[in-house]
Amino acid sequence: MTSLFSPDTVVLLCLLLHSTEGTCPSICLCTSDTLSCGSQGLTRLPLLLPPTTVTLDLSYNRLGWLGPGSFSSLPKLDTLRLANNQLTTLGHGVFQNTSSLRHLDLSSNRLRVLEQHFLQGLWRLEELLLYNNHITRVEGGTLSGLSSLRKAYFSLNQVTEFPFFSIRDHSHPFLTMLDLSSNRMTTLPWEDVKALPGSVQKGLYLHNNSLVCECSMYSVFWHWEQRGFDSVRDFTDEHTCLIYGEPRASVRFLRHSLYFQNCTVGKVVSLPMAVLLSNLMVNEGERVHLDCQTSLRGKELSYTWVSPNQEYLTQTSFNDTLINMFPNGTLEIPAAKVNDSGLYLCTALDYKHMLNATREVNVTVIRPMPDTFNTGYTTLLGCVVTLVVILMYLYLTPCRCGCCKQPLPPAIPIPAYDPNTLASIFSPTLSHRDPTKANINKRVVFMEPLMEEQNGDLRATLAREQPGLQWEWGASGLS
Ligand SMILES: *[C@@H]1O[C@H](CO)[C@@H](O)[C@H](O)[C@H]1NC(C)=O
Ligand SMILES: *[C@@H]1O[C@H](CO)[C@@H](O)[C@H](O)[C@H]1NC(C)=O
Ligand SMILES: *[C@@H]1O[C@H](CO)[C@@H](O)[C@H](O)[C@H]1NC(C)=O
Ligand SMILES: *[C@@H]1O[C@H](CO)[C@@H](O)[C@H](O)[C@H]1NC(C)=O
Ligand SMILES: *[C@@H]1O[C@H](CO)[C@@H](O)[C@H](O)[C@H]1NC(C)=O
Ligand SMILES: *[C@@H]1O[C@H](CO)[C@@H](O)[C@H](O)[C@H]1NC(C)=O
Ligand SMILES: *[C@@H]1O[C@H](CO)[C@@H](O)[C@H](O)[C@H]1NC(C)=O
Ligand SMILES: *[C@@H]1O[C@H](CO)[C@@H](O)[C@H](O)[C@H]1NC(C)=O
Repeated sequence: MTSLFSPDTVVLLCLLLHSTEGTCPSICLCTSDTLSCGSQGLTRLPLLLPPTTVTLDLSYNRLGWLGPGSFSSLPKLDTLRLANNQLTTLGHGVFQNTSSLRHLDLSSNRLRVLEQHFLQGLWRLEELLLYNNHITRVEGGTLSGLSSLRKAYFSLNQVTEFPFFSIRDHSHPFLTMLDLSSNRMTTLPWEDVKALPGSVQKGLYLHNNSLVCECSMYSVFWHWEQRGFDSVRDFTDEHTCLIYGEPRASVRFLRHSLYFQNCTVGKVVSLPMAVLLSNLMVNEGERVHLDCQTSLRGKELSYTWVSPNQEYLTQTSFNDTLINMFPNGTLEIPAAKVNDSGLYLCTALDYKHMLNATREVNVTVIRPMPDTFNTGYTTLLGCVVTLVVILMYLYLTPCRCGCCKQPLPPAIPIPAYDPNTLASIFSPTLSHRDPTKANINKRVVFMEPLMEEQNGDLRATLAREQPGLQWEWGASGLS
């Protein structure tokens, strides 16, 4: 009888008990909480899986299909590896009652379309590996409800469209990695991409796609490059685009941006343009629209703008003549002034869900170049004309010596200054055949600026010897 209670018997009993509770399938290796059934040529799931399983490895098998509730007997399942199988699709409710799952590896399978029911209920899922499948399309709601998602890998597929719109601040607050590289996207909904939360944009990998070269595309990557995002910096050479979509005309657009020289990237402006981190450069007097496009969508949002000098501009200051705000949050500066420049910050607030999101616009108002040029040109012309007149005066007049002793003007008038006198210079009556009259005319011309006779005398002498100096005087006299 003593043998019945020997330690050996107890161990044996325990083992027996254990094996009936959580059977370890013969083809798997079981450790405390890990079930490893990889590389066994399985075409179906093993029947009885121990409910204590936390990690289940089924990779490198030949699974082609998984039925509803396949893993519902595993309430503690945290990590599921299904990589390198032959899954073409997933049935409804595969992950029913598997809500503890945090890591799911479905890479290197043959999935074609990611249907929205596939991942339903996985609200704890943090990591999703789907690279190297045959996915062409990701349905709109596929990622909805995956509110704990941190990293999602979709690279090496044939994705042509992706539901960027389904990713928002509040829908996926932890998402920091979205790998869509090496797919077949030709164009993206760039407005949706720009409205992604900043943390998602930072972790969005889009290299090695079939992007068509366009300004809207380039401007997004340009901004990301300015911000030093790893996604762009680490794969500079893999960022290619196709000119007119022609596969052979592939350009490494971050290396060679010449094609985009005509794009208004940071400077802009095709208003109204949705801008996230934007540098808006406008000419003085232009009407400016600053859109408050954030990751929040909805009708019941209220907006607040803060001006560069920390002024709150809310919807109530609608009647402000200088700055208007539309109900959709767009701020309008009817005629921008240089001192309107600066950083404008918009906050969108969703009272119902207590959410907010911000957007910044760096506005630079510049004086239009053509005007400055014109002014300069006019001044220049005025000086040249005056100079010529001076020279004529000094050298073409017959009574050179007599004239030299006459007091001369200290400064030169601009043509616009006194059109009448200018006209008199050019008038046909001005002729060296009539010295007295010419002299009078000259006096008239120089009468106004005449200040000090002594000075004028000196300057005139200098001017005769160094006409270049006269130029400088002329210029300073104008200002
Ligand atoms: C799965 O969960 C549902 C409720 O969400 C429950 O009714 C059902 O019994 C569960 N199934 C299993 C196999 O645990
Ligand atoms: C680019 O994508 C193709 C498939 O679309 C893949 O075969 C190739 O290896 C990728 N290249 C790089 C550098 O990732
Ligand atoms: C950019 O504009 C210039 C002048 O308008 C034009 O000659 C050139 O072809 C344009 N470049 C591209 C890539 O469109
Ligand atoms: C705007 O201001 C003008 C007077 O400056 C006033 O007559 C008008 O009623 C105001 N409009 C609104 C919508 O407040
Ligand atoms: C907001 O409304 C204004 C005026 O109705 C319009 O000009 C502007 O384009 C709108 N902005 C957006 C982002 O829809
Ligand atoms: C900009 O200048 C105008 C007058 O030129 C002045 O009325 C306005 O207060 C200035 N605005 C700022 C923000 O300095
Ligand atoms: C905006 O959200 C942040 C947290 O995300 C919160 O700290 C802040 O108070 C909110 N601001 C407003 C105006 O609700
Ligand atoms: C805004 O733009 C101006 C001119 O482009 C630049 O000097 C300034 O540093 C920018 N400010 C911010 C906060 O980016």
